Amino acid sequence: MKNVVFVAPLFRETTNRYVRAFADLPGVRLGVISQEPAVMIPKDLRDRVHAHYQVANAMEGADIGHACKALQRSMGPIDALLGALEQLTIPLAQARAMAGIPGMSIAVAQNFRDKATMKDVLRNAGVPVARHQRVTSAADLWSFVAEVGFPVVVKPPDGLGAAATWRLESPEDANAALSRFQPSPSDPFQAEEFVVGQENTCETVTIRGQPVWHSGTHYLPGPLEVLENPWMQYCVLLPREADDPDFTSFHPVNTAALSALGMQTGLSHMEWFFRKGGKSVVSEVGARPPGAMIMPLMQHAHQVDMVARWAELMVFERFDPPTRKLAAGVAFFRGQGLGRVVALHGLDKAQEEVGSLVVDRKLPVIGQPKASGYEGEGWAIVRHERTDVVKDALKKLISTVRVELG
Ligand SMILES: Nc1ncnc2c1ncn2[C@@H]1O[C@H](COP(=O)(O)OP(=O)(O)O)[C@@H](O)[C@H]1O
Ligand SMILES: [Mg+2]
Repeated sequence: MKNVVFVAPLFRETTNRYVRAFADLPGVRLGVISQEPAVMIPKDLRDRVHAHYQVANAMEGADIGHACKALQRSMGPIDALLGALEQLTIPLAQARAMAGIPGMSIAVAQNFRDKATMKDVLRNAGVPVARHQRVTSAADLWSFVAEVGFPVVVKPPDGLGAAATWRLESPEDANAALSRFQPSPSDPFQAEEFVVGQENTCETVTIRGQPVWHSGTHYLPGPLEVLENPWMQYCVLLPREADDPDFTSFHPVNTAALSALGMQTGLSHMEWFFRKGGKSVVSEVGARPPGAMIMPLMQHAHQVDMVARWAELMVFERFDPPTRKLAAGVAFFRGQGLGRVVALHGLDKAQEEVGSLVVDRKLPVIGQPKASGYEGEGWAIVRHERTDVVKDALKKLISTVRVELG
């Protein structure tokens, strides 16, 4: 029996899916750490959670560490401490160190979480990355701009969901960024040369340092472009062709990057720029399951429960590599303007044209507030044997369905 502890800060639907996967995994005794009390654990799960510990802040390494020590008194030694959120990467590593739990170390976690450290490690290992600078003063930014020229991209060193990522085109933009970020040695930001290329992802399963499985998606278009153009609705496409050389030719770069960063066992989510005829460039890597609905896309394309597979991988270092059977894609519905969702347009037409391909959806609800991220208020997943059919369906969905805010 393995003692596994999962950190679920709040019992949200997406998080519960992970809790359920560990609870259902044979040979596992599950402990859960959360900010919410045990009564918030979904009823059907409660009797499968062996132990629960509530903390004040489930994103804090020290809180998680103390909770683990307390759980160890009732459960015995913990074999694995896990969580699915990007922001938990370092806190989980800190808690492992405090409570003597095996798994990703603090040093490796930092490689994955700090964008400047990550790019330094990758560059030193010969992995192609954008030129970058950790900006601690106005002078740092100006000298970087003098070196690489406009445009440059700036972002917080531990950014998420493209929040606060900006493209700077001019000295005015640079001044605006400096007054907004107020960089200092204790509060730096990351500046990067602007890379032009198709933005893709590469999801990798690694076991004891060896890559054993890959999947990948196209962002249509890249998140920054979506952020810069509020009228755009965004899609992610997972093509049917697992052997597409545009993806497979990147795998050696992906392997070199993960090995330089210290990936041992896990599922990682890399963002990279494909440059036709040129060297592809690694953008960033998360040592956690992907967001942007890529877990469900992988599930539909490979016809397996990816969350359950991830749980098994993390606890038993076992992964039965699934073959890709279909193409899958997600279209995000994003309202324009401000306020709340007041109407949905084009649903009937979309239903008529591509409804038969839709396998899952979460439609925006009237009255729902405008979403904070670029992904918008709802989504639909389509799937088919042919990649071009999925691609066309995504195009139809985002050009037909309109979310009206007001
Ligand atoms: N150097 C770059 N060149 C061009 N676009 C970039 C660059 N860095 C980031 N971007 C764009 O900004 C988005 C967000 O940046 P990213 O580093 O992925 O931060 P986050 O952790 O918030 O996802 C990326 O998905 C990409 O579209
Ligand atoms: Mg990113």
